[in-house]
Amino acid sequence: MRVTVLGLGYVGLVTSACLAELDHDVIGVETNESKLRSLSDGTVPFHEPGLADMVAANVQAGRLRFSGDPAASAASAQIVIVAVGTHDGNGGWQTKTINDCLVSVVPHLRRDAVLVIRSTLPPEFLPQLAAIVGRIRDEGGQQHIPVLVNPEFTREGQAIMDFMKPDRVVIGVADDPTGRGVKLVRRLYQQTPGPILAMNGLDAVLAKLGSNLFLATRISFANELAGLCDLYGADVEQVVTAMAYDQRIGGSFFRAGIGFGGSCLPHQVTMTVRGAAAAGRPTPLLAAVDEINHGQRVRFVERIETLLGGSLKDARIALLGVTFKPDTDDLRDAPSLEIAARLLERGASVVAYDPMSGALARASQLVPGLTTASSALEALDGADAAGLVTEWSEFLTMDWAAAGRRMRRPILVDGRNALPPRAMLEAGLAYSSFGRGTLVPDEVDARSTPAERIARRSLGLFEQPVASPGFAHAQALPD
Ligand code: UDX
Repeated sequence: MRVTVLGLGYVGLVTSACLAELDHDVIGVETNESKLRSLSDGTVPFHEPGLADMVAANVQAGRLRFSGDPAASAASAQIVIVAVGTHDGNGGWQTKTINDCLVSVVPHLRRDAVLVIRSTLPPEFLPQLAAIVGRIRDEGGQQHIPVLVNPEFTREGQAIMDFMKPDRVVIGVADDPTGRGVKLVRRLYQQTPGPILAMNGLDAVLAKLGSNLFLATRISFANELAGLCDLYGADVEQVVTAMAYDQRIGGSFFRAGIGFGGSCLPHQVTMTVRGAAAAGRPTPLLAAVDEINHGQRVRFVERIETLLGGSLKDARIALLGVTFKPDTDDLRDAPSLEIAARLLERGASVVAYDPMSGALARASQLVPGLTTASSALEALDGADAAGLVTEWSEFLTMDWAAAGRRMRRPILVDGRNALPPRAMLEAGLAYSSFGRGTLVPDEVDARSTPAERIARRSLGLFEQPVASPGFAHAQALPD
């Protein structure tokens, strides 16, 4: 099928490459000249495992081409997919880009074309969508075309798998009286194994939003549960493992820590709360999800401060990871940025390391005063404490005993509950995570100042190994 994808940001490029991989004839359109140039030179402008190879292979096979001309590229397509941004870069929605895109492209579409919006839309925009497209067609004296939405459920770092093996494909109808559009889009996805659900457009938009809001809610729930575990001295991993065996609950998106970041979850929670409040419908559960999530970033900084005896002044803090999660170079709403700024504000010096050197450089521009290191060990050298912010595999597999010896004080706060507490204790580190207690080796305890001991006590934590010897610790969670 001939497909044109408008907008080669994260969603558009993944969609273009994967559709080409499924044997469709795809033109990807990007109006930003430097982005287009780098794509045409074979460079994918962001990090996504497997994507650069997939793009290269499909360009070489002639199934994927790039263009800077939306109207000309869309004119020949059977399906035109819009994947332009709807985020205003400031935590809000914006629909100007999509409006402009429709105005420039819709008059040029074939009479048998189908228009598909893949960008995430604010729910209030959906009722206008068919009217905007219809009006543009009317103005040109042209026949109406089917208008559909097809939200993506793509996780960064796993985007190709999510596209090729989706849990489901959702097609929402904004305007398709004969069903011709839905039929064609079903064919587009016929090689992917997941069920294809067709529904009305607003239901599809809310299905996308609802999925992200629920995932965010699970994470904030896990974080609140972790707070209870810290209060009573329980181990959140054991608690969650036991809960997850209940098939009504399951185990995914239950990892406690510094909470969710990224371009979707934080923005969609905040905007839903704001949008619904403005329309007179409070959403107290989602407001709490947002509050808990931001609170985790603050608690992380306070935890480091407490373990240092109540003051961060002149302390050197190593931050491991700046991206909002591993396997991406994305810094959008990354907790690291707020955490670094708060640490600096309280008088610490902060040195960060991330395997994505581009993201690290951008982080240091975004947070004035943040310095960077070229390796984890360099960041840890002489540090008074380390904060694990992103669970990159290199942090999980490094020799923590050796790393601890390079620190001035071997204190590690794990913001992702990603390391095994007992092993960290045995490596000689004072180790604190969320809902799994704080463990302080005897040698470190002996070297602690009275202020540090008093501050630690204020955490109300059990300073002993969380899992009893011989007791299997935190099994893998069922999905
Ligand atoms: C999300 C949705 O998962 C995806 O379906 C949607 O299309 C886009 O938004 P993404 O933003 O790539 O994907 O990241 P995701 O894997 O959902 O993680 C979001 C954040 O939650 C990350 O910061 C991650 O570290 C955090 N997280 C995730 C937790 O804190 N705990 C968990 O248990 C899972």
